Amino acid sequence: MAYDGKILARARDILEQIKLNNETELNRRRAEIYELIPEIKKIETEITTIMTGVAVDALKKGLDAGSAVENARSQCDILLEKRTELLKSAGYPADYIDEIFSCSKCRDKGYILGKPCTCLDNLYKAEAVRELSSMLNIEGQSFENFDLSYYEKTPASGGTSPYQIMSTVLSLCRDYAYDFGKNSVNLLFRGGTGLGKTFLSVCIARVVSEKGYSVVYDTAVSVMEAFEAHKFDRGGADSDNISVKVRRYLDCDLLILDDLGTEMTTNFTLSALYTLINNRLLSGGKTIITTNLSEDDIRKRYSPQIVSRLEGEYILLNFSGSDIRRLKRERGFK
Ligand SMILES: Nc1ncnc2c1ncn2[C@@H]1O[C@H](COP(=O)(O)OP(=O)(O)OP(=O)(O)O)[C@@H](O)[C@H]1O
Ligand SMILES: [Mg+2]
Ligand SMILES: [Zn+2]
Repeated sequence: MAYDGKILARARDILEQIKLNNETELNRRRAEIYELIPEIKKIETEITTIMTGVAVDALKKGLDAGSAVENARSQCDILLEKRTELLKSAGYPADYIDEIFSCSKCRDKGYILGKPCTCLDNLYKAEAVRELSSMLNIEGQSFENFDLSYYEKTPASGGTSPYQIMSTVLSLCRDYAYDFGKNSVNLLFRGGTGLGKTFLSVCIARVVSEKGYSVVYDTAVSVMEAFEAHKFDRGGADSDNISVKVRRYLDCDLLILDDLGTEMTTNFTLSALYTLINNRLLSGGKTIITTNLSEDDIRKRYSPQIVSRLEGEYILLNFSGSDIRRLKRERGFK
């Protein structure tokens, strides 16, 4: 799994905050108990004295401090037992004033033998999904909410109904999302307005992101704007942000490039689009492109290098049906 540095840093900040909260809670508990059962405070001081005594002894006598250590340990065990008894008889759990760890596996360090622990991994995934939802309206757009009843069951000219076509598209997209990995293909969603292209791409983005992959969603217009801003960057205040953005378009595991064809076509956008598509093919990043453009439109609009890659390296999914924005209005939704 490739971690996005910015998101990983945020996940670690959250873990740090969890640690701080646990420490604050522990201090509060200790103060509470010392106030209530001063005896416990005395026991703890005694334990500290014994332990430092042993350490000093061990230093003086060299390594041969075995029996002293043994002796000290049994003394401490007795004291600890007494402490536990005191806690219990006051109605507290035995570990009430022990260190608190939200993750017992890594003791809130976030790493085990240099590898991220599952707790950090989970925080990372949650942050990645949050990052994604800040870019798009993820609310309500999930495979469970994809409603096939909007697609007509009467066969169109080809003999297959929009309902049948979209059932297949839905199940392909679902499999794609849940099986996402380095062997995944690139997808091209084509179809008229309001057929659920953005909806389904968002569903995929959500699932793939929850699996921990870096996913970036943006419209072709915004992506091209960012490339342009990057190219003509004069090192202003936004400079770092733009570079990070462009890098993310190029480097993320899955890029959703929504609404291809709505961006202006200039020599610059044509070459930027080529760079984006080609670089992602070379680096192995996966891309989902949605568009209203027909095959002919695409050929007319883009360079042969782009067309050839779209036709050769992308699996085409043709969306079918009637504009669901309109259907929703008619069904009385707002
Ligand atoms: N299968 C579906 N079930 C429920 N709502 C849907 C479905 N498909 C689309 N919608 C809703 O219909 C509206 C249009 O869908 P969407 O934005 O995905 O269309 P689109 O194909 O991307 O259109 P455009 O080409 O104009 O971008 C959205 O509000 C979306 O939430
Ligand atoms: Mg759309
Ligand atoms: Zn952990």
